[in-house]
Amino acid sequence: MSDSADGKGKLILALDVHEYEHALDLVDKFHDHISIFKVGLELFLSAGPRIVGEIHKRGRKVFLDLKFHDIPNTVSKAAIAATRMGVYMFNVHASGGFDMMKKCSDSVVQTCLKENIERPKILGVTVLTSLSREMLRDELGIQYGMRTHVKHLAALSQKAGLDGVVSSAREVEAIRNSCGRGFLIVTPGIRPSWSPPDDQNRTMTPKEAIREGADYLVMGRAILQQNNPLNVIELINLEILSA
Ligand code: C5P
Repeated sequence: MSDSADGKGKLILALDVHEYEHALDLVDKFHDHISIFKVGLELFLSAGPRIVGEIHKRGRKVFLDLKFHDIPNTVSKAAIAATRMGVYMFNVHASGGFDMMKKCSDSVVQTCLKENIERPKILGVTVLTSLSREMLRDELGIQYGMRTHVKHLAALSQKAGLDGVVSSAREVEAIRNSCGRGFLIVTPGIRPSWSPPDDQNRTMTPKEAIREGADYLVMGRAILQQNNPLNVIELINLEILSA
């Protein structure tokens, strides 16, 4: 079955484990149902960059979720390294600012042209799905409402040449309206109706997120902590299809 026909192209599995063997075991178990695997900080730091190559060897794509946030020069150098690893997508914090994102995207384009590499998709992380409106205001000193702030960061990411953003599904409609159809929206914080929110504050079900217009759903614990993860993945893929 093609990715779009069975819904699997839209579900990204977060490999939030620390052991190299465990991560590869998950890839081997689920690779018929998942096209993109997310490698985040925990796995990358404990298993090392070789995990990315091993996922590629199995014919699957990698979303490198290291959320770069540093001065423009440092981030653009890290972005070039991610590009050379051949990842399908990676992300930077949009709150790192326009210059950081622009230099990052320019360096990636130049590297791809010079070295004949397929250009990875670069995403700007807007506001983490674990943050609430109150945390944004009281802890980070941001006085705008959540939607306004997310929309602002999404527009800034687009202006800097990024391909899309990571945001809560609750802000998808607002981002879609201001950034248009071609702009990718990747949404973590997805919880099927039967699962607990964990530390996520702004959650939605897979069906709701797709209906709002999300391009990809990132899911970790709500799949991996179930007794029969494969069954859960199949249910979610069906839910995505029915949306
Ligand atoms: O287990 P759960 O489905 O909550 O995992 C969500 C994944 O998405 C985690 O790997 C987390 O790091 C990532 N993520 C997120 N919020 C963002 C960006 C990435 O939860 N804004």
